[in-house]
Amino acid sequence: MSRKPIIAGNWKMNLLQSEAKDLFEGIKGFVKDYTAVELPTIVIAPVFTSLAAVETVKCDCGCGGNKINIAGQNCHWEKSGAYTGEVSVEMLADAGCSYVIIGHSERRQYFSETDEMINKKAKAILAGGLIPIICCGETLEQREAGVTDSWISGQIKAALEGISSEDVAKSVIAYEPIWAIGTGKTCDSDEANRVIAMIRSVVKEVAGAEAADAIRILYGGSVKPSTIEEQMSKSDIDGALIGGASLKADSFNEIIAKTMKLTLAAK
Ligand code: PGA
Repeated sequence: MSRKPIIAGNWKMNLLQSEAKDLFEGIKGFVKDYTAVELPTIVIAPVFTSLAAVETVKCDCGCGGNKINIAGQNCHWEKSGAYTGEVSVEMLADAGCSYVIIGHSERRQYFSETDEMINKKAKAILAGGLIPIICCGETLEQREAGVTDSWISGQIKAALEGISSEDVAKSVIAYEPIWAIGTGKTCDSDEANRVIAMIRSVVKEVAGAEAADAIRILYGGSVKPSTIEEQMSKSDIDGALIGGASLKADSFNEIIAKTMKLTLAAK
């Protein structure tokens, strides 16, 4: 089965509204020459206060797809209520989001997000008709101790607990080794592919072969225009979640262009 690649930009806590608008316009200007069929699934995740500065870009070729999709960087699992500082799935949908990043290592590390919370968020996102981008990944200490696979397999099983195979199939996972995030140290692409294939086998175990075949699993951690081709040429890497290199239209568009070229060449 061929899975449509995803190129997702995680803008993290960066960009004021006017800056977010400029970056969005830079990406929009690039995608206008292509159809959503040709482009990878493009997702951008601005801060909540800049959601108003961006919008979903629909394709006009008749395919019914989107050229740019918007994501929230986090959400709460409850619909509304006394949760100061939080935002619900319905509110994100109302602000134009169709994806939500959850379980990013920065949220786990600095905001004490647990696997149980990530599971509740994933269920709320899917119930609200949006798509979760579920992040997982090991620390350098865990890698050196040889527990990478068992750690990640535990994160994935916990995140997908109680979710139907149909919903797992539509979800997205991002494998982001923590030591490779924002450090310039990219994980060797064969090793990233090996871990992602391992994640796919865990998905198969919990949700069946069809879901494992359909689910898109991304690599994240210092992805740049110079690394994307090798990463995308690997069998199980279905795209990238990009931090630093997604903050400039030039580098993000170059990553999209290179992904598109490889996808078209493979057809
Ligand atoms: P990076 O961030 O590309 O800056 O390493 C990736 C991420 O944290 O999603």
